[in-house]
Amino acid sequence: MDSVAVQGAWTGSRRAATGLALGLALMMSSVVAQPLTGDPKTGVQRATMCSGCHGIGGMRNAYPEVFRIPKLGHQYPEYIASALQAYRSGERSHSTMRAIAANLSDQAIADLAAYYGQGGTRGGVKP
Ligand code: HEC
Repeated sequence: MDSVAVQGAWTGSRRAATGLALGLALMMSSVVAQPLTGDPKTGVQRATMCSGCHGIGGMRNAYPEVFRIPKLGHQYPEYIASALQAYRSGERSHSTMRAIAANLSDQAIADLAAYYGQGGTRGGVKP
């Protein structure tokens, strides 16, 4: 009997902890959802490390396997930003992009989205 009571209490506190974690997650996601103003000029500089892969239309990477690299220029900024957030959170599973997005701040994502939304490597703002 005693052990049931103890187990009940334990489950209760675990529930409370889960609730707390959920609350925190919701709070954090509402912070992320705040519109950040991206600066395309900062985005150009940040995009230096992206253009090695995304700079060439129709380019394919050959390692670790052959895969196509999507073109980013003239894509909707919201689409770029949400794609990067999805890689960062693990919702999108491509390992290369996950590793890259893991190091991007919300501001960096906004800047990159603004830059690519303006045309990215196909014109727009010059580095
Ligand atoms: C090593 C090569 C490489 C680098 C460097 C790289 N990417 Fe990518 N990126 C890819 C590949 C490959 C995909 C397609 C992944 C997939 O199929 O999900 C991709 C997908 C994306 C997508 C989703 C495009 C779509 O149409 O869904 C975005 C946005 C993106 N990358 C942004 C960036 C940004 C911003 C940077 C620089 C901070 C960057 N990438 C650096 C290879 C790269």
